[in-house]
Amino acid sequence: LEGIDGLELPAAADMHVHLRDGEMTELVVPTIRQGGVNTVFVMPNLVPPVTSVRHALDYQSRLQELEPNVTFLMSLYLHKNITPDTVKEAKAHGIAGIKSYPHGVTTNSHQGVVSYEEFYPVFEEMERQDMVLNIHGEVPSTAHEDITVLNAEEAFLPTLLDLHRRFPKLRIILEHCTSAAAIKAVNQCGPNVAGTITAHHIFMTVDSWAGDPHCFCKPVAKLPSDRRALLRTVVSGDPKFFLGTDSAPHAAKSKRADKVAAGVFTQPFAVGLVIDALEEGLEMGVLQAKDVTKEKLEGFLSGYGRAFYKLPEEAKERIVVKKGTATIPEILVSEDGGIEVVPFRRGKITWGVEW
Ligand code: NCD
Ligand code: DOR
Ligand code: ZN
Ligand code: ZN
Repeated sequence: LEGIDGLELPAAADMHVHLRDGEMTELVVPTIRQGGVNTVFVMPNLVPPVTSVRHALDYQSRLQELEPNVTFLMSLYLHKNITPDTVKEAKAHGIAGIKSYPHGVTTNSHQGVVSYEEFYPVFEEMERQDMVLNIHGEVPSTAHEDITVLNAEEAFLPTLLDLHRRFPKLRIILEHCTSAAAIKAVNQCGPNVAGTITAHHIFMTVDSWAGDPHCFCKPVAKLPSDRRALLRTVVSGDPKFFLGTDSAPHAAKSKRADKVAAGVFTQPFAVGLVIDALEEGLEMGVLQAKDVTKEKLEGFLSGYGRAFYKLPEEAKERIVVKKGTATIPEILVSEDGGIEVVPFRRGKITWGVEW
């Protein structure tokens, strides 16, 4: 992508990030701008989960204090504590969305949703208040004997279509789409249903995470045909799809443990990794150079996500992306050495970002 080298782009919006709590937060938050991002949508799967407006606003002010030059869009965790009144209160305080985790599918989803019906009154109020419903779309393996990590997302898609039919004006995001089927389902819905795509899923397939804990995340990366569909979608110029990295840091020791934590850490190189993946797409012949226009890249990285969340303006800040000017470290270490995190594609060279 020689044409992209040295290009000025709007600062990226990363509409799905895990910033955690405590020492991990202090390690991760300073890497947001490093990755070319100035606006993030922050996931609520802390321990305990963020289920009150007060908790979300306290968390937001801690994040803001650590990094005043990033806009932190906040979310609540869909949970029995959340009522239609909570939705009104959340809207009044500028909370941007409510994230639903099916029970037991991923990190800190133990308190997740067992039945969506239970939350219909909440969804109805969200529709009225024009709040976004963020969906982790996987059916738990415990739900049916034929569900595995490979078909868990596809098996969820009828639920997405059903929710859209019941709440046609509700803005919904199918987070971290990993399959051609997910892209198709989002496309079948109206313009108020969108999908986020991560940087790592446009690199990976099943073979990537089979045997490599640092590439294991939920939903897992699927088949080569799914990866190709994601790559094509990133440069489709379709405003229903935008960047949400799902950057999910875990301490290195819990990635190398007997039971591997799910999550891939991409935050410090968010924009660079997307461009790297597109370059791989070109090499594989999945994409052609003419597919990768500045306009489509700007839309995917910045404009479409901001528009979907109805942010008051497009990015004013600019970044410049430079090919091969950054090296992904082997490990990130917190200030006092207490936490280590292994980044995705450690040791590789990527596109650097200048502000
Ligand atoms: C589980 C989790 O965090 O929910 N881990 C995972 O999905 N990788 C482990 C657990 O049961 O805590
Ligand atoms: O891989 C993942 N990690 N998927 C999720 O949905 C959650 C995330 C995390 O919080 O670690
Ligand atoms: Zn998720
Ligand atoms: Zn996530």
